[in-house]
Amino acid sequence: MEILNLAVLPGARRTGIASRLLDGALAAARSFGGQRAFLEVRASNAGAIAFYERHGFRPAGRRKHYYASPVEDALVLSCGLGEDD
Ligand SMILES: CC(C)(COP(=O)(O)OP(=O)(O)OC[C@H]1O[C@@H](n2cnc3c(N)ncnc32)[C@H](O)[C@@H]1OP(=O)(O)O)[C@@H](O)C(=O)NCCC(=O)NCCS
Repeated sequence: MEILNLAVLPGARRTGIASRLLDGALAAARSFGGQRAFLEVRASNAGAIAFYERHGFRPAGRRKHYYASPVEDALVLSCGLGEDD
């Protein structure tokens, strides 16, 4: 599966909303036989990177100049969905 967008209103952050959304999406992917989840995140987005690492995502690559306005690299993060991951 690929996660294209995940955002929580600023005033509602750090209350577990994104964790519940992510857990639900990963469970749905598992139920369809998904084996691995991928996403891109701005290299400077330390908060989102910390969030995804807390949920088991690890660096899987880097896409140079992936984003515009401002131009920035993307980190590719991935997480296995199997029982052994
Ligand atoms: C990243 C984002 C979706 C997290 O949403 P959230 O609902 O605040 O996340 P949660 O409350 O479920 O956070 C769970 C854990 O992730 C980590 N975490 C979340 N935001 C963090 C931050 N800004 N800095 C460091 N760790 C963070 C923490 O360990 C947190 O647990 P804690 O609050 O008990 O310390 C939210 O900050 C957001 O919408 N950001 C802007 C959009 C964005 O960058 N989306 C991702 C791009 S792909």
